[in-house]
Amino acid sequence: MKKVITYGSFDLFHDGHYNLLKRAKELGDYLIVGVTTEQYDESRGKLNVVDSLMDRIEHVRRTGFADEIIIEDHKGQKVEDILKYHVEIFTVGSDWIGTFDFLKEYCEVVYLDRTKDISSTSLRARNFSIIRVGVIGTGRIARRFAPEAKYVSGVNVECVYHPTKENAHVYAEKFELKSYTDDLATFWTEVDAVYIASPHQTHYGYAKAALEKKKHVLCEKPMVLNEKEAKELSRLAVESGCILFEAIKTAFCPGFAQLINIARSGVIGAIRDVEATFTKLESPLSRELTDTVTGGSFTELGSYALLPIVKLLGTNYQGLRFESIRADNGIDIYTKAYFNYLNGFATAKVGLGVKSEGQLVISGTKGYILVAAPWWKTESFEVRFEDEALNERYFVKFMGEGLRYELSDFAAAINGHTHKGLKLTLEESVMMATVMETFMLSSKKADI
Ligand code: CTP
Repeated sequence: MKKVITYGSFDLFHDGHYNLLKRAKELGDYLIVGVTTEQYDESRGKLNVVDSLMDRIEHVRRTGFADEIIIEDHKGQKVEDILKYHVEIFTVGSDWIGTFDFLKEYCEVVYLDRTKDISSTSLRARNFSIIRVGVIGTGRIARRFAPEAKYVSGVNVECVYHPTKENAHVYAEKFELKSYTDDLATFWTEVDAVYIASPHQTHYGYAKAALEKKKHVLCEKPMVLNEKEAKELSRLAVESGCILFEAIKTAFCPGFAQLINIARSGVIGAIRDVEATFTKLESPLSRELTDTVTGGSFTELGSYALLPIVKLLGTNYQGLRFESIRADNGIDIYTKAYFNYLNGFATAKVGLGVKSEGQLVISGTKGYILVAAPWWKTESFEVRFEDEALNERYFVKFMGEGLRYELSDFAAAINGHTHKGLKLTLEESVMMATVMETFMLSSKKADI
């Protein structure tokens, strides 16, 4: 029996896919089709796949050409599959000519002519109009955003707003945007969605105004610094039918998503402790260490450290207390937040003026997961057990600055794929805002 294998994402299943599978089947007696997981697609830079893995598998199955459907979830798997299934022919469309010649060592490699004028990419572009994105703010993070947006299909950064026109002008020139403005009324007419990267205390005002104008909002962390405002924005998002995402990049990167899924799968038993550390030394003259209203370690870095805690232990903590070391101006240069949950603990440790090992440890009743620094750009992690022989390491690519992942999910959610919002829900953002508020109130008490 001659076995043939082929792979693809098979997103928005189209004639090109059908023709490819038909001819692949004709090459032999038994066809194996590998369908890529979302995480694998994301990790190789293929963002914005629309259909879920289950739907894509179902579409392949319905053609009747596949004798077996497998899942492709990591680099290097093709060789493993060819050996495992005793494959004689590997085939793929002619757009890949040359790319898979290295497999000739293991089997015959056939490039089949690609069907003209159709692709998932073109279908995605046709089905969904391009989302016009506007940027509010021109600082460090905003400057990282525009280049990252180039990697996400279906969105175009078109306009920038800054209260100082010259700042907006410089940004627009640098990133070749269509327009710039210091007038919000003009700005709203130019965009469908906004990315807010202005100072913390201005987030709420901009996000509220955007939602009232029915613009989707991707807002830098911390989205807001108190529960009331977070709830108000959530309510406005629901009312306006707009998407509201807090831009914590880690939440959306493929490595972190896999880490959370594995941690929640039960392999390390019940999760009893999460310890997340993020420190980044800043100059005492920096905005972060001189802005006595919203500066400081916890407001700057706390969102990252809170993320794994809320994802793994939930939003219903029973107790919370803080310990901080403060500079002379009262700003916290190092803070530890201690959480008590019904069946566990968590610690978030952040510092702008104290350096520590930036690791994440998730402890369970059967084992633990260690994510080394920089865990917030999750590229690898290890699941460890008492019996070291059972330890397993995972590797997932983190591309560029990582902002492309949140933007990609934001665009997909705008296009109606609301499950994309599950990587960080509004309920979780509200909980984080509540924690920020508790911290700021406890700091005030410490001043008295
Ligand atoms: N394919 C084809 N003819 C097309 C489109 C795809 O023969 N017009 C083949 C590809 O070469 C590959 C398989 O179908 O062997 C699965 O491709 P996939 O990457 O899932 O589809 P594309 O439409 O190329 O997707 P995208 O636009 O996202 O790259």
